Amino acid sequence: MCGIIGYTGIEEAGDMIVDALEILEYRGYDSAGIALCRTDGSVRIRKCAGRVKDLRSLCQREDIRGTCGIGHTRWATHGGVSDGNAHPHQYGKVTLVHNGIIENYRDLVRKYDLQERLQSQTDSEVAAAVLDHFYNGDPFAAIRKAVLKLKGTFALSILFEDFPGIVFAVRNVSPIVIGNVRGGSMLASDVTVLGQYTREYFVLPEFHVAVLKKDGVELYDMSGEATEPEWLTVDWDVDRSGKGGYPFYMEKEIMEQPKVIADTVRPRICGGIPDFTIDGIPDSLLADCRRICVVACGTAMHAGLVGKALMQSFVRIHMDVELASEFMYTDGIVDEETLVIAISQSGETIDTLEAVKYARKHGAKTLAIVNVRGASVALASDYVIYTNAGPEIAVASTKAYTTQLAALYLLTGRMAYVRGSFGEKEAKAFAAELMRVPEAMRQVLDRREEIHYIARSILNAKDVFMMGRGLDYSILLEGSLKLKEISYIHSEAYASGELKHGTIALITEDTPVVAVVTQSRLQSKEFSNIKEVQSRGAGVILFMKETFGMDKESSWNSVFKLPAMEDGFMVMPASAALQLLAYYVSLDKGLDVDKPRNLAKVVTVE
Ligand code: AGP
Repeated sequence: MCGIIGYTGIEEAGDMIVDALEILEYRGYDSAGIALCRTDGSVRIRKCAGRVKDLRSLCQREDIRGTCGIGHTRWATHGGVSDGNAHPHQYGKVTLVHNGIIENYRDLVRKYDLQERLQSQTDSEVAAAVLDHFYNGDPFAAIRKAVLKLKGTFALSILFEDFPGIVFAVRNVSPIVIGNVRGGSMLASDVTVLGQYTREYFVLPEFHVAVLKKDGVELYDMSGEATEPEWLTVDWDVDRSGKGGYPFYMEKEIMEQPKVIADTVRPRICGGIPDFTIDGIPDSLLADCRRICVVACGTAMHAGLVGKALMQSFVRIHMDVELASEFMYTDGIVDEETLVIAISQSGETIDTLEAVKYARKHGAKTLAIVNVRGASVALASDYVIYTNAGPEIAVASTKAYTTQLAALYLLTGRMAYVRGSFGEKEAKAFAAELMRVPEAMRQVLDRREEIHYIARSILNAKDVFMMGRGLDYSILLEGSLKLKEISYIHSEAYASGELKHGTIALITEDTPVVAVVTQSRLQSKEFSNIKEVQSRGAGVILFMKETFGMDKESSWNSVFKLPAMEDGFMVMPASAALQLLAYYVSLDKGLDVDKPRNLAKVVTVE
């Protein structure tokens, strides 16, 4: 989850590293730190609890200089949020930053008798101490011996006092990307930041050692053999020149959706039919499986739920959606006839990655839907569909979610076609409706001030319930997560028919209810369920397909009419409306929309 950075070169490293940390801050933002190495090898550290801006002020007050250094922005796991627990950690001749978790750190403290000299409560400092324990002048030997002792996940960026100007890196599971940059070389925990400095990069292979020097990068396997990196190109727009005039990235990213959905869909429509030739996905993958199983977390898992509803109705194939974090621990059942679809914006979510490995071990074919190129989930899967959402910076996922949905629509369309549920005519009609999504989304976004007005009515709510059926229920699960994570209002989504089985007991006149009604065949049932909560005093905010007749007997707190599409596609405009609702509540509450408390964008710990 934490962000790490390392640079060595001819430029002054301090400002460069702090700038990079600002970009990386979405990976964790409870503390930050930097270590710079002077030409005599001595290392100076500045670190503090708080945001990168606090680190910047600290560095301005207590200037340190150097052309080689490492930096870190933290999401606390072991050890609370404090200056002392912030990275970098220094132990003897070793200074490092760490992303991941050293699971056996307590055993290591005992085994190497480290307790007395430890300054922090972190597992990361223990990694530094173990490296120092094995260090006798040869960094490579120390790294090789130390990593054999570390259990867990780690991306380590390391300075050794006797090797000024050199940054060493090693990893297990947690990612590190590396590139040559102007006047030196750089590593980072993801390409969002590295892509600002270079378009060519490679993913550090697990249990390999990278040696970053002013004149380039060397890569070695654990036996000390030099190996050639596999170079990749950053092929998304990494221009982060700002928030495009919006106060928060989240709003910018919501507004980008028509474009990025079109970018995801268009290259995958051939002759009017969904087609995955550009992704190298053979039809046999889609035609031959007996069932599908999605593994994902959070918002990505919610995208899977929409996918399940689509697949089941259009393809009539059995599909399960599993929380990746539970999948292995509930002995998930997959076999050679299962297509496992891993969905992940970052492609680094550890639970999703482990679920993919588990699925492959059990013989399943794996297909990743990932936004970040070259990410671990993509590399670990047999096939990958990259969504073209571009960098998503706000912690709350919006455009990544709807482009994941776009990919799932495409998969549904192609699968229905190759398995014979669709003839050519139906496949073309399905694709044509999908191509209309960006325009329908745009119409919702153009009316965002109406949703802003609606949002004001729930600003002070303690709880907000959401209700819907079928596809509407699937997207409300996501709408409710969005509201919770950025507004801190407790919210739950319920399948409308379920309320009577318990939850309706919580409905009072102080409980606003958000209802989404977009499915023709469920319309009248939906309205009956809504009446049940209205009879118990709840004020209802209704998001409804514009062509549906209004229930005149009910009085609504607010009604927002969604542009009409075929029922199966209504989730797209409805999702945009729910994202805006959450966004404006958070904005008007004066919260830090992009960096909600306790969260981080990339979840690389279990
Ligand atoms: C939602 O807004 C969150 N950002 C979160 O639920 C996220 O979707 C989840 O952590 C999975 O992340 P991934 O898509 O990068 O795997």
